[in-house]
Amino acid sequence: MSGRPAGGGTGRAIVDGRAVPLARAHLAITDDGAVRGDGAFETIGVWSGLPFRLEDHLRRLRGSLASLGLPPPDTGAIAAEVDALLVGLGPRDATLRVYATAGGTRVVALVDQPQRREPGHLVPLPGPWIRPLDAGYGPAGAKSMSYAPNMAATRAAQAAGGDDALLVASEGWVLEGPTFAVLWVAGGVLRAPDVGLGVVDSISRRTLMRLAAVAGHPTEEGRWTLDELGRADEVMVCSAVRDVIAVGRVGEHRFGGRTPVRDRLAEALEGERRRHAHR
Ligand SMILES: Cc1ncc(COP(=O)(O)O)c(C=O)c1O
Repeated sequence: MSGRPAGGGTGRAIVDGRAVPLARAHLAITDDGAVRGDGAFETIGVWSGLPFRLEDHLRRLRGSLASLGLPPPDTGAIAAEVDALLVGLGPRDATLRVYATAGGTRVVALVDQPQRREPGHLVPLPGPWIRPLDAGYGPAGAKSMSYAPNMAATRAAQAAGGDDALLVASEGWVLEGPTFAVLWVAGGVLRAPDVGLGVVDSISRRTLMRLAAVAGHPTEEGRWTLDELGRADEVMVCSAVRDVIAVGRVGEHRFGGRTPVRDRLAEALEGERRRHAHR
């Protein structure tokens, strides 16, 4: 590295080992990451100044690159760059973004947590680019830099009057949101779509499933249709840089009233992020 970024706080990045203000963190237009969205990325929550489950994120980045046929990331360098960026942040919440492009560029950026519309009303939309892991499609499950289909789904859902999309497989299975995982409670069981469907292997969802099991709630991964989800008592979404958010509506299905499981899980996740934020 050429040196530490000046000062603490967000709005800074390290590009191929060079510390720069975020406004000067550029990908060359000759880099396949920019030209073709060819590469993989991670978004990591920083809670009270510490990254949550950094090693899991780096493992997922390695998996994404492998499934795209790209070389493994230099996880040692990324971890050192994360440390350098977090110096001087203090006990604040923030977001780390890590990119590894097909052009060989490595970016680690420290930014503010996004202020986004809460996905309380989800519009079911097809997600035909999400394919099962066993269907012979290499990039299945990869967190690739080509997120245009996901962002288009968010725009389409908002144009239809919702807050965000709920992606559904061609076979009818409920999958995930464009930038978040979905879970629901049915008959006291916390359900989540099976990662074999090719959804992103959400680290916050894994954490919630574990916290639920520890709290004595049965959990189940599987393949369910929208109509089955429609019979849920509670629906919620999560991601690395969000709270656990209660969903009030999915298409024509409405979920009202109390959300006791979401409330308990949100509190448990918040506690884990603050107390045990670690690598
Ligand atoms: C498509 C998709 N699904 C699920 C998630 C949630 O994953 P995580 O909990 O690891 O942030 C994300 C997060 O960015 C995502 O982009």
